[in-house]
Amino acid sequence: MDVVDAMRSRKSIRGFKPDPVPKEIIREILDAAIRAPSNENSHPWEIAVVSGEALDNIRRGNIEMLASGAMPNPDVVMSGLKGTYRQRQVDIAVQLFQLMGIAREDKEKRAEWMQRGFRFFDAPVGIILYADDSLDPMHTQFDVSAVAQSICLAALNYGLGTCIEIQGVMYPEVVRKYTGIPESKRITISIALGYPDWDFPANKVQSVREPVENVTTWCGFDS
Ligand SMILES: Cc1cc2nc3c(=O)[nH]c(=O)nc-3n(C[C@H](O)[C@H](O)[C@H](O)COP(=O)(O)O)c2cc1C
Repeated sequence: MDVVDAMRSRKSIRGFKPDPVPKEIIREILDAAIRAPSNENSHPWEIAVVSGEALDNIRRGNIEMLASGAMPNPDVVMSGLKGTYRQRQVDIAVQLFQLMGIAREDKEKRAEWMQRGFRFFDAPVGIILYADDSLDPMHTQFDVSAVAQSICLAALNYGLGTCIEIQGVMYPEVVRKYTGIPESKRITISIALGYPDWDFPANKVQSVREPVENVTTWCGFDS
């Protein structure tokens, strides 16, 4: 697949077919993705690929934590959005809820939707990206993000869909329990991976972007 086509067609997939993804394909995706650049070639990323019983255990553990009312405690804390940025978050949520037929006041369906994220959207594979806690988080997060996007793009080459998601690792103690990732590692982000179910309504989501003209300052060009 052409790289630019891949970048243009990538979207977050939140409904997957149950079909397993061959380990060799995942290995090929990761082998390409770890060619991502990194600060001083530190390539600090470490990767846990989780499937089968291990992933089911994480899904169950996450849902139990959620149901118990435990406060999410991710290793990488993202503060809440404000102003325009918050509005964009609301806009994508409204679009997803409309596609899924979830009314604003329907607490039960909203809760079920939230649980889907904590269940890795029922994908057959979860990819957990993490890095050593001794490293500067500013650097490692940048480097890990580059790999995450590369994974999402490479996946398209194999007909696979992805959703980068913080929800999957919001209870890092659950992830650690079933992957063996030690406390000395900072769990950064997860990615749900699998073959997209194109009949799943939320997969019709089309996120918007502020156009290039509005986010770009051109310097030193004649026109
Ligand atoms: C760091 C990060 C964390 C994200 N976490 C979640 C998440 O927990 N749940 C979710 O449904 N989507 C999550 N997403 C996906 C974004 O919602 C999505 O990328 C955004 O709405 C744009 O949509 P698109 O990917 O389809 O273009 C995350 C994306 C990033 C980059």
